[in-house]
Amino acid sequence: MLIIKIIHYKSAKRKQITKIFAAEYKYPRKLLCGGTSRGMGGDSVNRYNIAVVGATGMVGRKFLTVLAQRKVPIDNLYLFASARSAGSSMDFGGKSYVVRELTPENVLKLSNMIDYALFSAGAAVSKVYAPLFVEAGATVVDNSSQWRMSEGVPLVVPEVNPEDAFCGSGIIANPNCSTIQAVAALAPLEREFGIERVVYSTYQAVSGAGMGGYNDLIDGVKGLPPRKFPHPIAYNILPHIDVFMEDGYTKEEWKMIVETRKILHRPDLRVTATTARVPVFYGHCESINVQLKSPCTAQRARQLLMDAKGVEVMDDPASNVYPLPILAEGRDEVFVGRIREDLSAPNALNMWVVADNIRKGAATNAVQIVELLISRKEAKGDV
Ligand code: A2P
Repeated sequence: MLIIKIIHYKSAKRKQITKIFAAEYKYPRKLLCGGTSRGMGGDSVNRYNIAVVGATGMVGRKFLTVLAQRKVPIDNLYLFASARSAGSSMDFGGKSYVVRELTPENVLKLSNMIDYALFSAGAAVSKVYAPLFVEAGATVVDNSSQWRMSEGVPLVVPEVNPEDAFCGSGIIANPNCSTIQAVAALAPLEREFGIERVVYSTYQAVSGAGMGGYNDLIDGVKGLPPRKFPHPIAYNILPHIDVFMEDGYTKEEWKMIVETRKILHRPDLRVTATTARVPVFYGHCESINVQLKSPCTAQRARQLLMDAKGVEVMDDPASNVYPLPILAEGRDEVFVGRIREDLSAPNALNMWVVADNIRKGAATNAVQIVELLISRKEAKGDV
């Protein structure tokens, strides 16, 4: 009998240690090993200059963690944020780095000195500064929604459409967090059977709304009013992520729909979505109903997903084993469980898909894109 103890040490701010004693649960072996995909592993002989824009934010900080964990070979690191944080310092790899104010002058001063720039400071910042960094000689991997649907800008999930990363001209977009985990689970089914229609229902963590969202949940449990969300998020669920559009959908729902089509190269794909914010710190959950072009048993889908890169199947309902946000937190895999045939429609399946929205849903995916670019560059001897 296997006894597994997983201890999540939460941030100091949360002052909370969650202990999960998963006695008798048969978690996949990989869950016990810590760490996930290997990253660069320090193999590269070349080193690169990296900039992080929005370095002090929720995703910006995670960029630094993931760059270090995956041993991306960095020569110089440049950190940018707003005037509010300029002059403060942040640690990376045992060294302290001063945060620079993001201004055109400060970017152009570094012309031809930045290889890759990771952006997560919101769409308005990306709109102005991503082209400026490209002009200064950098390749930008942008986590905002600004460029995702622009013609000629690749939208990349490395396990799904890696080749697209090489078709851009300076800016590569990192998809929306909820789209990344969804397409990771859908791509193996699309490849094998073709997808007819997708219905998304999401349960998204507050960290997806940045530090403001995170703080609203912290404050909310103390009875304080929200500052980021339009309603209290503590002990509540908001069927509202990003702004409402004229057709009644939210922008988050629209993003999931159009980004899924772009990443899977299926402009014709029928997709619908309802996205909701739930009082969870990290880890988005998604109920995905997918109708395929030909029959697929739950067992076959399970096997395909077990073989898929970056996906971990956790599907043993008899032992209460299924993906949970607290198990996905801090991990880079997309966890899939509750895989079952939809008894109400032909060729259709239901599944439950969970991932850490700040890691695979943002920072890890962006860093993997940089790794792809570095690997290709080095394979071509173009360094
Ligand atoms: P700052 O900390 O100086 O405000 P989050 O998504 O967690 O809210 O983080 C947003 C990130 O984007 C932060 O690093 C924030 O910096 C940065 N940011 C926000 N607005 C600007 C701006 N106008 N110029 C540069 N950085 C910005």
